[in-house]
Amino acid sequence: MPWPKSIQENNQRFIINENLTVSIDGEDPKRLQHAVTSFLRRLSNRSGVFLSHGFAVPLSDEEQAPIQISYQKSAELIIEDDESYQLDVESNKVRLVAHTDVGAIRGLETLLQLLTNNDSEYYLPGVSISDAPRFVWRGLMIDVSRHFHPIDVIKRNLDAMASVKMNVFHWHLTDDQGFRIESKTYPKLHKLASDGLYYTQEQIKEIVEYASILGIRVIPEFDVPGHATAILTAYPELGSKPRATYKIERFSGVFDPTLDPTNEAVYVFLENLFTEIAPLFPDSYFHIGGDENEGKHWDANEDIQKFKREHNLATNHDLQTYFNIRLEQILNKLDKKLVGWDEIMTPNIPKTAIIHSWRGEHEGLPKGGTLIEAAKKGYNTILSNGFYIDRMESVVKHYLTEPIGNIELTPEERKRILGGEVTMWSELVTPLTIDSRIWPRTAAIAERLWSPKEVTDIDNMLKRLEVINYRLEEVGITHIRNKNVILRNLSNNQDISALEVLSNVCEPLKIYSRNEGGTEYKTFSPFTLFADACNVDAKDALKFKQVVKNYTISLSEEHKSDVISLLETWAKNHKAFQKMDKNPKLALLESLSYNLSEVSKFLLKSIQNEKISKKDMQNFKTQLETLKQPFADVELVIANDMENLFEALK
Ligand code: ACM
Repeated sequence: MPWPKSIQENNQRFIINENLTVSIDGEDPKRLQHAVTSFLRRLSNRSGVFLSHGFAVPLSDEEQAPIQISYQKSAELIIEDDESYQLDVESNKVRLVAHTDVGAIRGLETLLQLLTNNDSEYYLPGVSISDAPRFVWRGLMIDVSRHFHPIDVIKRNLDAMASVKMNVFHWHLTDDQGFRIESKTYPKLHKLASDGLYYTQEQIKEIVEYASILGIRVIPEFDVPGHATAILTAYPELGSKPRATYKIERFSGVFDPTLDPTNEAVYVFLENLFTEIAPLFPDSYFHIGGDENEGKHWDANEDIQKFKREHNLATNHDLQTYFNIRLEQILNKLDKKLVGWDEIMTPNIPKTAIIHSWRGEHEGLPKGGTLIEAAKKGYNTILSNGFYIDRMESVVKHYLTEPIGNIELTPEERKRILGGEVTMWSELVTPLTIDSRIWPRTAAIAERLWSPKEVTDIDNMLKRLEVINYRLEEVGITHIRNKNVILRNLSNNQDISALEVLSNVCEPLKIYSRNEGGTEYKTFSPFTLFADACNVDAKDALKFKQVVKNYTISLSEEHKSDVISLLETWAKNHKAFQKMDKNPKLALLESLSYNLSEVSKFLLKSIQNEKISKKDMQNFKTQLETLKQPFADVELVIANDMENLFEALK
């Protein structure tokens, strides 16, 4: 995962033994050296084979090296880079050939994924793979404003991105809840608007270098003119509300504080700030946000209204375009091209801008939403609508988000669709939980953006995702282990097996309903609750759905015993739950645990044709209805399948 463009098997086997060595033939092998060292370590750790050589061998030994890598040039980390590779595995040789070093490191990830074993040895199955990405922009955005994420969180996520061939890290550095980067020109920004949680410029350079070694571009985002509470906390005089003071925002949502586009001091500030910050990011693109500006402080300000009239700017949208164009000119001087969320797409915005589509289809737009509209109007564009993983929806939905569909595009229009980005908005995630919200779903989106359009088999994807899911632990992703960290915290370090059972059938509330109106959680609320231990695509819920489906179709004894086995687990789980010493966090879950147990007992009786009293039936119906309701910020996602089973048994 992502599935390659073409694979041919040849029935040979390359056995992993201590004599395995790797050679690199290519200019400036810095990236490859790092990738080969990592490859050898992961190979050795997975297989337990004590390799004689732990690093790439010198080129003079190339003839003898069983794994030979060659490439023509270093990638520049631009959208024109060639990431294709050709991989041939035979019984005594592996050849990995690419145009660029980054293509070669994409191929090395494929090679590692091929590693398999039988009782007696680890081996790479013989194959010829020709591979190249469908889209040149395969990104992950991490919002570090709503919750700050230190550099080790970013590094492990960069490693995970590289493991599934993603190539753009979009760093959402500023928002209402915090300004997260050191500014020497305007030190009040990080001193007054970050609660001390920000990256030093040295740390920024470290991350940019770390990403570059992995073949990942880094795009910073400074969200303006809206989402600007943090900036205005430091420099209130740049705001649109005269004499206002501002405080770092603690809640989630869309807020009014907005830079004043009619104030020349704003452009001086942004030019100085961008002139300081832009050189830290070698990429030629720079994201200025531009989203969700409702312009309330503009409407309320007489001087801003007067400015609009004087400059023939009929709407706030026109005023924002005026602002964006001024920013575009500043960024041009710094040799940067502007990227912005799709609100920036107005008639006067230059075609050099990239439109970042996030709102999808709405009235008046051509089919395919702002992505297609942008491409047809002549803009380069990337898609995030459909890849909002913070909505906590099933991986299947994201996987089936096809950027282009069957929309007719000219070759030029198609070329302007650069790819897409997963968005990890961080209102409800902390360093403890962020990995479990990003992974493994992002791996499936990475496949959508890399693999041929025709690769859409869900069962096949889910099977492969299960493997990738635990392989992500190898690169340091904490999504699996931190679940138990949270459950131990919840239980004061008691036996957590009852909580694990419960969490395997519960999912956090979806589509922002966990934090309705943005007011239940503040940035400093606890995120170590039961809902934080639960995840999308709850493991046993998927299993139950399948066995109920199988049983209701076949009514066979075999499928019946699968259903019984799961129901028994839940039926007896409440006893284990009750054994725990209670605390307020656990006490909250008591009725959920009890109702699940009771409903399961009823369904067991029912499936085993035991006698059911009127009272049993009444209780069951009440309890099932209760279980269908959101509870403790989770939903019990098996409730509907329990009902389906009941209907089938009637
Ligand atoms: C966005 O989600 N406001 C870009």
